[in-house]
Amino acid sequence: MTNTQQQIKELEKKAHRELVEIQDPSALEAWRVLYIGRSGKLPEMLRNVKNLPDEEKRIVGKEGNALRRDLEEAYEEKRHAVSKDQEVGLPRVALPAGGAKWGHLHPLTLSMNRIIEIFSAMGFIIADGPEVEEGKYNFDALNIPLDHPARGEGDTFMIDPKSIGGEKDIVLRTQTSPMQIRSVQSMHLTPPFKLIAPGRVFRREKADATHESTFYQFEGLGISETISIADFKGIVAEFFTLFFQKEVTVRLRPSYFPFVEPGFEVDMSCVFCKEGCRICKHTGWIEVMGAGMVHPNVLKNMNIDPEKYQGFAFGGAIDRLTMIRHGVTDIRMFWSGDIRFLRQFS
Ligand code: DAH
Repeated sequence: MTNTQQQIKELEKKAHRELVEIQDPSALEAWRVLYIGRSGKLPEMLRNVKNLPDEEKRIVGKEGNALRRDLEEAYEEKRHAVSKDQEVGLPRVALPAGGAKWGHLHPLTLSMNRIIEIFSAMGFIIADGPEVEEGKYNFDALNIPLDHPARGEGDTFMIDPKSIGGEKDIVLRTQTSPMQIRSVQSMHLTPPFKLIAPGRVFRREKADATHESTFYQFEGLGISETISIADFKGIVAEFFTLFFQKEVTVRLRPSYFPFVEPGFEVDMSCVFCKEGCRICKHTGWIEVMGAGMVHPNVLKNMNIDPEKYQGFAFGGAIDRLTMIRHGVTDIRMFWSGDIRFLRQFS
């Protein structure tokens, strides 16, 4: 390779490398003047070709002209790209630098992370599972009979089995409770163990200030030979104390869920008042989750012997805890995409 050919190669490399970095029209114009403008580096080089020996003249002339076409094309392409950026008003050109804000996690993600952190520290493992779930896990294995009202199309988003080329009964999970059986099966768990499964759930309901068709729950499950309601009570009191960063006590009220026996609602002492306020509806207690001792049928569905083992299960709504913690009065704000709302959680 002759000296001039070498120079052409280097010029080519340098010009392309610099062009890639360019983001605004004035820098592009400077590039054009420097490389392909009338007094630019390439035309100057081509002007000198006439002084070369005949043999070299031909080769270098050809290569130099090819490079000129190449750079002109690259320039046109870049010009197009840069002016497009300007049309859509990309701030790097249209606005002075500065003023950009750091992003941050969504309040529900922050709560979920906090829940995971607290339970992990207490020795719970974390399980994750599908949002599109088999009816078998969402209902049957949880001892929810076919004629249970929650199984109707009125409450559940059903997936047409034909649309997925199968026969199976498929739904958008209405609760994280199917994760009880699913995690034990998929992670091959044998007692003793404790787990939580946070995740998104779906209900076919009209949205209002306290209901959304999409929200987040966290499911808990703890099984051993001796684990008791007293253990459960201690664990959740500790959880809520850490979550709300305020000493709380919990109380259990009898309730019914098909997958536990006995079942109860869990209330925590109001984190805002001592003598009654609007949040606790002047009772001093706030309802925070459903729970119970795992029903023997559900243990059987996990392949765990109900004669030998027992366990607690609980389920709470992450949206609700987040609303209580931050005084959010309308659940729909979480999905509103309203940046003024979201910025408050940075
Ligand atoms: N899955 C129930 C719901 O969505 C909440 C629940 C209640 C979960 C009792 C449990 C439980 O694990 O034991 O309303």
